[in-house]
Amino acid sequence: MTDSITIRRPDDWHLHFRDGDVMREVVPYTARQFARAIVMPNLTPPVTTTELAAAYRDRILAAVPAGVDFTPLMTCYLTDNTDADDLARGAAKGVFTAAKMYPANATTNSAAGVTNVEKLYPVLARMEAEDIVLCIHGEVTDHAIDVFDREKEFIDRHLRAIAANFPKLRVVFEHITTSDAVDFVMQAGPNVAATITPQHLHINRNAMLVGGIQPHNYCLPVAKRESHRLSLRKAATSGSPKFFLGTDSAPHLRSAKESACGCAGIFGAPYALESYITVFDEEGALDRFEGFASLHGPAFYKLPVNEATVTLERAELAVPPCLHVTGEEIVPWHGGQTLGWKFVG
Ligand code: DOR
Ligand code: ZN
Repeated sequence: MTDSITIRRPDDWHLHFRDGDVMREVVPYTARQFARAIVMPNLTPPVTTTELAAAYRDRILAAVPAGVDFTPLMTCYLTDNTDADDLARGAAKGVFTAAKMYPANATTNSAAGVTNVEKLYPVLARMEAEDIVLCIHGEVTDHAIDVFDREKEFIDRHLRAIAANFPKLRVVFEHITTSDAVDFVMQAGPNVAATITPQHLHINRNAMLVGGIQPHNYCLPVAKRESHRLSLRKAATSGSPKFFLGTDSAPHLRSAKESACGCAGIFGAPYALESYITVFDEEGALDRFEGFASLHGPAFYKLPVNEATVTLERAELAVPPCLHVTGEEIVPWHGGQTLGWKFVG
């Protein structure tokens, strides 16, 4: 039995740091385990320009603990009014690593998102020409569509067309939750990849709805039925370079989660690697963990792999039921559970 595993230092290809005091307190959790992270731009107001992204990057860097090597990779929040010239300039200067498309009102702080995907086509054409990665929150917002079907519907209404119209555009289908998404990514070209969160590998929708409503298992896209979870586990542990790690860590205070209108988002950062490696261990795929966590993402983003390494050990890890951010309680993913792996450093 493998009791210890050392891999190149991983990166988190999708997360939310927020801003201000919360950001300053959550950045160290990620910087402890990951060398780089793709930082989502859904602040209020959103990060829509090179100038805003550069300033946000500086605020994040100021929150990285001394002596810790961590690089935030910034994204541009796409809107109906995105200035493609500014986006291209920001990418050329190394401020933007990618641009993020939220369909308007799909999720937290997405009101300024894209109201009509086709209207964004001129920007997508420019991104394809400049080789800028497009990150997509792939859910339709049509109220007539059942929340459990919104990802599949997005593929059928928009994603197939984007892939067909922009065959060289690099697209990351973010936080996929369905076998439909796995199938779509698998049959698409090498320019289409996906991130998978730890929660969607661990839970199905029962974890959110059985035994009383479980707000700490609620995120968007919502967890789906068991067959989808099994597809995601198979994809993540398959060794395919099209799938890589993206926690979608999305901190919301306990008070905002345990509310009559609880926020979507799971704070996955603090024990992210322990969560993922548990899945790889259960699937008998520890030898594929490094690819998913540390190699496939850099290859897709055309960035070097990290030189440093991290080690995880088979050992009991009691995840605290709650942590504190800005003096307030926040429940981490796996809060109160005991995991069988521990991040050593
Ligand atoms: O659950 C989610 N939370 N999904 C998202 O897409 C956004 C995120 C957030 O910002 O809280
Ligand atoms: Zn997200």
